[in-house]
Amino acid sequence: MTETKTGQAKQTVSKSSAPRIRVGVTYYPEHWGKARLGIDIPLMREAGIQIVRMGEFAWSRLEPSEGRYDFSWLEEAVNAFGQAGISVVLGTPTAAPPAWFHQKYDVYPRDEWKRPLGFGTRLQRCLNHPVMRESSRRITEAMARHFGHNPFVEAWQTDNELTQNYCYCDYCAKAFREWLADKYGSLDNLNRAWGTVFWSQEYSDWEQIPLPWFAKCGMAHNPSLQLDYRRFQSDATVTFQQEQVNILRCLCPGQKITHNIMGLNDSMDYFALAADWDFAAWDNYPITPWGENGMRVPLGHDVTRGMKNRAFWIMEEQAGITGWEMMGPQTEPGQIRAWAWQAVSHGAETILFFRWRSCLYGTEQYWHGILNHDGVPRRHFQEVKQLAKEFGELSPFLSGAEVRSDVAIVHDADQHYGYHIQPQVRGMGLWDQILRFYTPLWRWGVNVDLVSPAADFSPYRLVILPGWYILSDEFADKVRQYVSRGGTVVMNPRTVVKNIDNVCVQIPLPGLLRDVAGITVAEYSPMAEKVGSVQFRDQNTASISVWADQLLLDTAEPFAWYRDSIYAGKPAVTCNDFGKGKAWYCGTFGDEGFYHIFLKQILNECGISSWDGLPKGTSVRTLYREGKRYTILVNLEGQEKQLSLPGDWKMLLGEQGLNTLTLKAYGIAVLESDRS
Ligand code: GAL
Repeated sequence: MTETKTGQAKQTVSKSSAPRIRVGVTYYPEHWGKARLGIDIPLMREAGIQIVRMGEFAWSRLEPSEGRYDFSWLEEAVNAFGQAGISVVLGTPTAAPPAWFHQKYDVYPRDEWKRPLGFGTRLQRCLNHPVMRESSRRITEAMARHFGHNPFVEAWQTDNELTQNYCYCDYCAKAFREWLADKYGSLDNLNRAWGTVFWSQEYSDWEQIPLPWFAKCGMAHNPSLQLDYRRFQSDATVTFQQEQVNILRCLCPGQKITHNIMGLNDSMDYFALAADWDFAAWDNYPITPWGENGMRVPLGHDVTRGMKNRAFWIMEEQAGITGWEMMGPQTEPGQIRAWAWQAVSHGAETILFFRWRSCLYGTEQYWHGILNHDGVPRRHFQEVKQLAKEFGELSPFLSGAEVRSDVAIVHDADQHYGYHIQPQVRGMGLWDQILRFYTPLWRWGVNVDLVSPAADFSPYRLVILPGWYILSDEFADKVRQYVSRGGTVVMNPRTVVKNIDNVCVQIPLPGLLRDVAGITVAEYSPMAEKVGSVQFRDQNTASISVWADQLLLDTAEPFAWYRDSIYAGKPAVTCNDFGKGKAWYCGTFGDEGFYHIFLKQILNECGISSWDGLPKGTSVRTLYREGKRYTILVNLEGQEKQLSLPGDWKMLLGEQGLNTLTLKAYGIAVLESDRS
């Protein structure tokens, strides 16, 4: 990330020499055969498809029996697409090892009860199992040797939707103990760090250390062990991918490497996984049978962009009805186009729909593609065609455009793990905490970067630290320096409750950041759904829930006070001048009105502009390129909306009224103006 003149952090949307925003699909030649390729390729060309992803579940066809590879069918497809001007992403097929492999080798993961999770779906492999590792390297190498110089292969996707290696097998137990020995050096260190004196858990032999296996009903493992287990299994996934990446880097010069993450999945350290990619990508399904993802969609875009701080891809974008046994709703006319434009407005440059055509068989029969089971192009095809045409027309303006943000929200895997291990109270989940800040900022059209603690904070005017629960001395120093040099931070309840071993600190809260915040948390009250209220300095009131910290003012000024409960009359929100900067401490969680008052005050003080009065369900994002500003408005709802936007702008896409802008149902507008 680099700093710009305005001090905003800048994330580049495209680094390639011929940047373009474009549309693609996932395609499974093994499902359709050669004959259908002759129909699908012309159809894809007609739709404006420029890239296909293939191969990620095809192990049984790529290696029909041990050591006997058959790449001919895939090569034929790659070349056919390539010759038609459609480039290819190849997936390594390790998310679905074949039946012959499992018959020969027991690499099944074990659950908490040590029961094997057997064959019949996918992901039935332990990433720590030596045979799985060896086989993953073998199939990756064979594919890489075959396709590493194929001019039509643009990129590789490692495996598919990697998560923490959920496994409790003996290989994992052995590897965990080695990982711990490496980390702590001695059992004395480990015993001290974890506080194993509690319940007589002191270890005198590494072999005694358990995995968090199923414990007697109602019992829970030591939180320090649980944290290290999650870190260890996350590392296992990272090194599993690294082995594939090392091979691909060596044998596939010029071909890029990525992976399709699941957006807000927080079972592992995605930042660590991302270190080995050229660019980030995620799978975006806004509406599934399990519900609507709502604000998790834009947040997922920003989280993914934050992985590499530059343009990202949507490796799987919803193409229609989703579902396995149960189906979600049909997408409305214009909806999939709107979602794709929404992704672009957050900095996505390539959007691949999942999938080209609904599969006739298998678990995902009802996860619908652009074409339905009958393979006939209809409404969704026409929508994608329109989208591809628009992307082509607007590429000269939007390709290489940058997202610039004055605001950063910092998150990392340890914080997510911490709240999973001990949620403490209902409503405290970390994504929920993040969304309390993110949602109003999104509604006001404020660009936000979701960054790792390693990011450079200096370009940001405002750094939000939601629930920074497990904190190292180094990170506390980094925050201290950022504020003392003029930055503004926002903290909330449960800041610095734990050290990095997941042990409670024995200094008053907010622990290592107490001087920065200028307050002391005298005591606290978990509220869950219980509702209370606060009064702000300007006399406005708002509701609160989930948690209340009772704050003693050391050097901070109060900004809001509790109105009821045992803390009535005591400060609930404070602001502290620290060096040249400011630290806000919000001791509770509020309703929409609460964050309106609280965040507007902070944005005003930081000089960050925001838009009021945008109709609900309207996404407004801004990209920047060569002295121009591009405002992308997306109506995410099925009702037409009118809005008036200040300033001079030229409409590149959309419908303009007399003095207003009209956004039809799921309508888009792209406006160009001079950078201000
Ligand atoms: C994704 C996955 C795809 C497909 C899709 C629909 O999570 O990466 O392979 O399974 O969901 O279920």
